Amino acid sequence: MFPTVRCRRLLLPALASCIVSAGFSTGLSQTAKEKDLTALEWQVPNEKAMLPFKDQKPIQFVVGSPFVPEWSKLTGFWNEFEEKAVDPATGKEVVRKVVKIKVPLGLTQAPPVPPENPMTYQKWLLGKQLFFDGVLCSDGSVSCASCHDPKTGYTTPTKTATGIGGQLGGMNGPTVLNSAYNLLQFWDGRASSLEDQCQGPPQNPVEMFDGKGHAWHLLVQRVRAKGDYSKRFLEAFGTEPTRDSIAKAIAAYERTVLIGNSIHDRADIAMKHRVLDEGSTKLEITAKDYETALNAAVNAKDQNALQALGLDPAKDAAKVPALAAQINNGRILFFNKARCNGCHVGDNFTDNQFHNLGVGVVKGQLPADALGRFGSQPTGHKNPALIGAFKTPPLRGLLSTGPYMHDGSEATLEKVVDFYDKGGNANEFLDIRMRDEAAEKAYLLNKDSKGPAVQLFGKDQKPIIPLPLKLTDQEKKDLVLFMKALQSDPVDPIVADPNRK
Ligand code: HEC
Ligand code: HEC
Repeated sequence: MFPTVRCRRLLLPALASCIVSAGFSTGLSQTAKEKDLTALEWQVPNEKAMLPFKDQKPIQFVVGSPFVPEWSKLTGFWNEFEEKAVDPATGKEVVRKVVKIKVPLGLTQAPPVPPENPMTYQKWLLGKQLFFDGVLCSDGSVSCASCHDPKTGYTTPTKTATGIGGQLGGMNGPTVLNSAYNLLQFWDGRASSLEDQCQGPPQNPVEMFDGKGHAWHLLVQRVRAKGDYSKRFLEAFGTEPTRDSIAKAIAAYERTVLIGNSIHDRADIAMKHRVLDEGSTKLEITAKDYETALNAAVNAKDQNALQALGLDPAKDAAKVPALAAQINNGRILFFNKARCNGCHVGDNFTDNQFHNLGVGVVKGQLPADALGRFGSQPTGHKNPALIGAFKTPPLRGLLSTGPYMHDGSEATLEKVVDFYDKGGNANEFLDIRMRDEAAEKAYLLNKDSKGPAVQLFGKDQKPIIPLPLKLTDQEKKDLVLFMKALQSDPVDPIVADPNRK
């Protein structure tokens, strides 16, 4: 199943290589040239070439909150310790270094790590360097960071991103921030992991590939020829740089691009302390809890958290109670009247599903190239309900990641809220959560033309009635403020600064 999926997703030049690998795995005989090509794709690791067990530095994630001692005692994001471990090759106990990452507050799970790509410092460093290195691009002009710049929220501050030869892409770059938690990658979910996602850009002719030759085979050869990459890949993976190991290294880096500790997360902790003090059982944030979190930020002169909300810690302390009340009102709207939590749920405020909101729809018509999830579903699994449906994006870090939506069509959070307020854009496949089902039923029963505006779609003239949220101007402002209170701490410099190791 896997090779079939992979071949279909890749561009044409890659097809040949898929067939080669498939042939290899089924034991068909290969010519010497085919074997050389396969060795660019993947190699069976030689453990002897790897760093000795005692010198491999694993990276572990520590998840928690101020209520968890192991988490609380870590002072920063990145912590190095020495610990005892048993070398599986000799059975002897050795002392080796380990990195413990303090997963930011609000993320209640460690980023999932595939068993075949365990995290080590050596892989992470290779991945970090490759992320910022033009070597992945045919002419060296574009790196992953060109479009996913740490300085602009690991995305591009423009509607669509510019790739090789100054070409403009067709989509808004989603952020790499917390992408470690996405169940599927890309707006249409066509990649199943970060490793898989990473196969795409280097062979995309508008991103990193000049269209000449086999993108990945040439890329692997460039990496092998550059600096000490080859030596360090052998140490980290027991293989030369290959398509497989390069993807693993980059994914290992991306799994540390984490943000959390927003004012909302801090208010959640303040609430838990308050509930304990009060001996109450009602675990719900109130304005008081935002006030506690904001006052603490003012005292600590936490520019980042306060700037997001337009507060100057030097002179705006008096504004805290009113602001806290507004954020809390925004929170209540988010989870009730505005129904945002129908899709934006969990630590990252996404259900990891795909929905048609009618983004880009003109006069009821979806743009021709906007099939969304339907287009990327495997043959035999096409679900028309997912035509024009795109992945629900996470909502942490929105102030750094605009413009918004898969086509970058909404410039500000205020505009996004206006879009939802009118119920999105009516089209044949508008998500059920965006529609007034009762009005649609009523229309079908008696074709009542006096109700809300009805538009009829498709052969069977299905009525589609978007559900307006009827938010007041003040409610819209509060909803935006709540999203700003989700703005999280920036990525730790050890991850985001290309010059730090
Ligand atoms: C020319 C700009 C450009 C370059 C270069 C680029 N990307 Fe992207 N990236 C995008 C765009 C645009 C998308 C969304 C495309 C889509 O969904 O069809 C994307 C999607 C992603 C996603 C998926 C995130 C999500 O939420 O679904 C990840 C992860 C990612 N890129 C990482 C990388 C890595 C790693 C590299 C380097 C190997 C890279 N990108 C190179 C523009 C770029
Ligand atoms: C039916 C599911 C659903 C509901 C309900 C929903 N969203 Fe979304 N949201 C999405 C999807 C899907 C996208 C991406 C749509 C696209 O680009 O086509 C999105 C995009 C966004 C974005 C842009 C993020 C980015 O990085 O581009 C913001 C902000 C947002 N939603 C906030 C909200 C708010 C506020 C509400 C409540 C008023 C809400 N959403 C209700 C599914 C939903």
